[in-house]
Amino acid sequence: MVELVSDPLKLYELKTRKSKVLFEEASSYMPFGVSSNYRCFEPYPIYLKRGKGSKVWDVDGNEYTDYILGFGALEVGHAHPRIVEEIRNATEESTILGFEYEKTIELAKIIRNRYNVDMVRFSSTGTEATMHAIRIARAYTKRKKIIKFEGHYHGSHDQVLLNINPMKKESRVPSSLGIPEEVLVNTLVAEWNNYESVEKLVKAHPNDIAAIIMEPVAMNMGLILPEKDFLKGIFDLAKEYNFLVIFDEVKTGGKFYSGAAGYYGLKPDLITLAKSIAGGLPLSVIGGRKEVMSVIGPGSTAHGGTFNANPLSIRVALVTLKEILTQQALYKISTLSEKLQKGYEDIADDLDIDLTVVRWGPSGMIYFSEKAPKNYKEFMKLDFQTWFSYFYYMIYRDILPMAGFNEQWTISIAHTEDDIIDHIEKAEEAIKVAKNEKLNLDLFEAF
Ligand SMILES: Cc1ncc(COP(=O)(O)O)c(C=O)c1O
Repeated sequence: MVELVSDPLKLYELKTRKSKVLFEEASSYMPFGVSSNYRCFEPYPIYLKRGKGSKVWDVDGNEYTDYILGFGALEVGHAHPRIVEEIRNATEESTILGFEYEKTIELAKIIRNRYNVDMVRFSSTGTEATMHAIRIARAYTKRKKIIKFEGHYHGSHDQVLLNINPMKKESRVPSSLGIPEEVLVNTLVAEWNNYESVEKLVKAHPNDIAAIIMEPVAMNMGLILPEKDFLKGIFDLAKEYNFLVIFDEVKTGGKFYSGAAGYYGLKPDLITLAKSIAGGLPLSVIGGRKEVMSVIGPGSTAHGGTFNANPLSIRVALVTLKEILTQQALYKISTLSEKLQKGYEDIADDLDIDLTVVRWGPSGMIYFSEKAPKNYKEFMKLDFQTWFSYFYYMIYRDILPMAGFNEQWTISIAHTEDDIIDHIEKAEEAIKVAKNEKLNLDLFEAF
């Protein structure tokens, strides 16, 4: 007799047998078989072969509609023909020149106008950009301490690896081994959407805060918007106590035409951009006020990198920002995202289940809860057992809905109305299964 399998995790395993074999092989050569802890996955990750448009294909031959999009880095979709063409042309003329590349100036001007900053410097990853932004803020203010928020992620450098996804109850939880306490002494942690928590830290160190760094829309604990006037309150505090505001727009920068700063009509002292701005190639930006950026230079404040502003990334970023991620394109993907949100809300009504959707432009997240969390502590109280069941069932039904419990969906310009209709149909099935079949997986911090 054939046994009917309904456990979403078993269904995942039945579908991805070759990935399991590769994972076992990879684990002999790479810790956990992956190249980034964020790709660790229970019971093993899917190994992909290729992508095109909104689809990706794995080693078992499964085709998935991709809403992960390289953790939001691929709003242009996979293998966009114009980007493929530009990469071909660019590589024929060298991928690294050592001196400055002429087209970098055009990109600097575009970023300056689009993101309302006076000056920019380019690096390759989001991690580098936030690391440099913090150094610049310290050099400018001649102060040591920074404030970050619990649940916010700013990359994999020591001073920001604190309280990212703490599973422990302590108030200060380093997010990695190997970081000396002395390094973290100058990193203070506040609670998102809690103005008093920021004010308290500032008043305790009135002359020591160099900067506050934040994801202006929190996108590493699901998706949590800032409450009304919260950001404005922080800007006022920064003015009063002479510290800088850094918007880490590595994720948010690609969601709206001028990022979160433009969306909320604010002008931070420094911003960082990465992910989607270079159409899937590694490029990051530190941008900000002229006075602040001017501390960078030989003999003063360090900023360097062999691959910084390499011709390949610069050319693809120019194509991405000028031709692909236009105002109209971003409007279109937001509209599709709104349809997806509506689809989930209808499912919640039809199935009479507590489900809340939070959406910001082309990205959104579903919570199995009556209301949306407003900070990390509320986020961690959510029902993840139902979420995991929904998540693995979606993958079984060929949809990669988001990268994990603390991520969100992203819609690319390659997604279609049919993709969304298909997503909603499968989500209804997945949520019906999840109502009855919970998955009790351990949450772990993928730092
Ligand atoms: C808000 C934010 N900042 C910084 C980073 C680090 O970027 P990267 O992975 O390119 O180093 C990330 C990565 O997910 C991020 O989400």
